Amino acid sequence: MICDNMKVGENGHLFFAGQDTVALAQEYGTPLYLMDEARIRENCRVYKDAFRKYFGPDAKAIYASKANSFKQIYRIMKEEDMLIDVVSSGEIYTALAAGYDIANAYFHSNNKTDWDIAYAMDHGIGCFVCDNVEEVKVVEREAAKRGIIQKVMLRLSPGIDPHTYEEVATGKVDSKFGSAIETGQAEEIAVFTKDQPHLDLIGFHCHIGSMVFADDVFERAGVVMLEFIGLMKEKYGFVTKELDLGGGYGVRYVEDDPYLDVETKVSEVAAACKEACARLGIDLPLIHMEPGRSIVADAGMTLYTVGTVKRIPGYKNYVSIDGGMPDNPRYLMYKSKYTCLPANKMNEACEMACSVVGRCCESGDIIQENVKMPESIGRYDTVAVCTTGAYNYSMASNYNRLPRPAMVMLRPDGTSYVVVRRESLEDLVRNDV
Ligand code: LLP
Repeated sequence: MICDNMKVGENGHLFFAGQDTVALAQEYGTPLYLMDEARIRENCRVYKDAFRKYFGPDAKAIYASKANSFKQIYRIMKEEDMLIDVVSSGEIYTALAAGYDIANAYFHSNNKTDWDIAYAMDHGIGCFVCDNVEEVKVVEREAAKRGIIQKVMLRLSPGIDPHTYEEVATGKVDSKFGSAIETGQAEEIAVFTKDQPHLDLIGFHCHIGSMVFADDVFERAGVVMLEFIGLMKEKYGFVTKELDLGGGYGVRYVEDDPYLDVETKVSEVAAACKEACARLGIDLPLIHMEPGRSIVADAGMTLYTVGTVKRIPGYKNYVSIDGGMPDNPRYLMYKSKYTCLPANKMNEACEMACSVVGRCCESGDIIQENVKMPESIGRYDTVAVCTTGAYNYSMASNYNRLPRPAMVMLRPDGTSYVVVRRESLEDLVRNDV
């Protein structure tokens, strides 16, 4: 099993977070997103403990809520004393609706509208992570209007290749995000921002990429950022309070993926940063990181019901399930790997090679290719797709007018509760006139 919150029960069913997935599929219907509450909390604690241990007692972990955003996740983040990263007024609204105090939120995005900026400020956003000078100017103007001093950070691109898929590599010089250190634009925007009367420039941010396993990516990013911080001190006497190294640690989707030990990784990043500070003669700023995927991915699983199995002798086999690219577009977008399991037939040998495909009118609607399923798989069987807690529900659509699935939270005591209701057919036409 790719994660220790999964096992096979005596009845041959797949259990997730201690609960029978086949029974859950029957109770709530499919497609169904499951979330393991204890695992989410545990993942938060791993980060919080590591940050406190290696970055200092004031260091906090930030949950990048784009990975999975719904009201209950913000309640859990509040209970776990996690800060959050938000990227839109929609995420801010969801957090507020859950009673999360957005004074603890960092507002990212490379293109916040004037409306977003005003909305966030009206609700007391903690910090804007400004991407560009146009945004800095609007934040200054809105802060001046309200007579407040607004905390901001600046997103910089340190010019580091994270060795992951291109769509999520974001810290290179030619990225659409942030101001490049290499070209001098970072210095320019930092000087401009620090002199704005209604802005408190607390520090700098970078995000190199997502699904990162490569060894020293965060260390190198930290060093480049600290060298910039050193330059800002030397040239302008500017003292940086916070350095946010972004998110991005990879998780295991399939057996071949490496296992990444967060505590060890954080200790290595901290060591590289401390060494750089000593060399540069600067104090260590308060260091943050903002994981998304590695907080929620392995806490999630999606259950589907098989509809049809198509065998094309001499060619290939298809197992069609009752969801697909609308609830999980990641194979289509990134050829992402997933582990697919026959949840009600876990004790049967998996000897039939097949593609697990969705129900949309689109050949690319594939959950996974080169899967092995039992020969007996057929209509009404349950298929589980593992590690879907990140970037599945948050990237879901209504393509082909398919209602989005429900999401159910599993408690360690064997109970479960709905955190996102299944969309109804009426929901689909709610905004149609
Ligand atoms: N901070 C910033 C500024 C980000 O842009 C992201 C992710 C994170 C933190 C969190 O990164 P994580 O720890 O989750 O890797 N849709 C893609 C992933 C896009 C990531 C976007 N930014 C996928 O499904 O693989």
